[in-house]
Amino acid sequence: RKLYVGLDVGGTSVKVGLFLQDGTLVGKGSVPTPPIVDEAGYSAVTNGIGQVLAEADATTAEVLGIGLAIPCPVPADGIIRMQANIQIDAPGLEAALHAFCPQAAVKFVNDANAAAMGELWTGAAKGRTSLVFVTIGTGVGGGVVIDGKVVAGAFGAGGEIGHLRMNPNEERACGCGGKGHLEQYASATGVVSNYLAECEARGVEPIELTGPSDSKDVFQACREGDEVALAAMRTMADYLGRALSLVANVVDPELFLLGGGASASADVYLETLVERYRACAINVNADTPIEVASLGNDAGIYGAAYVALQAAEA
Ligand code: BGC
Ligand code: NA
Repeated sequence: RKLYVGLDVGGTSVKVGLFLQDGTLVGKGSVPTPPIVDEAGYSAVTNGIGQVLAEADATTAEVLGIGLAIPCPVPADGIIRMQANIQIDAPGLEAALHAFCPQAAVKFVNDANAAAMGELWTGAAKGRTSLVFVTIGTGVGGGVVIDGKVVAGAFGAGGEIGHLRMNPNEERACGCGGKGHLEQYASATGVVSNYLAECEARGVEPIELTGPSDSKDVFQACREGDEVALAAMRTMADYLGRALSLVANVVDPELFLLGGGASASADVYLETLVERYRACAINVNADTPIEVASLGNDAGIYGAAYVALQAAEA
């Protein structure tokens, strides 16, 4: 058996997928994201892989490649220069993975780019030549596909839509050090900030939230008709819709796909998002479909495994 591991390192969890060459998922698991900067962090990740291997009756000897989708720009030289929502020492982790699985090729890729590749490999984007994949999780990321290929960019920042400065007047800092970035309004964390800001402006007591990046509670309140939560959702949809219309005028994709944790709540915001996108787009591409990715929040592990497979075969 030839096996490939796809890891998706997110702000809250590291997802692990075990795949066959043809893209069949044979094992899956996740561990909470540790600071991946020392031996304890590296072993949390390798233990997570070990568990998935054990459950699938597989050994490290069968693993030919490990792909890691990480939430930051990944330049060709592999040096990470910007980390908005994560603490990761890529060379340290790479060394630990080589020690764990000596024969496996190890390759890093931007998480949104990985998700786009996953959808192209086995998901909704199979056979598509152009699309923009948008991840909405702890951050907001983009995977731009043109002529069937992901645009990594000269400096690894292709598709960094989360850091478009959508509000020039905002002074609140983004995790990257910038200000007024899309991510501050349209990520899972952003939706919670929008909600808390609305509560403060209206002088109302917020509902109990599970965590700072957990937009689920806010979206649930939207489903129950909570006006404050709905206002927070509209801010999110407005920022994202405007941003996608800007992206459309540069890339003009056939389709936008939404993934990441908050794509599971698209039932709440998709209609408003499409409305805002249309209101800001030019007539040429105002009807570009915006859909939820078919692999949903798993797109990243698929894409990471695909990158691993390509690296192992190179
Ligand atoms: C990062 C991107 C990433 C996105 C989603 C952003 O903060 O800059 O590289 O794709 O979050 O995780
Ligand atoms: Na990207």
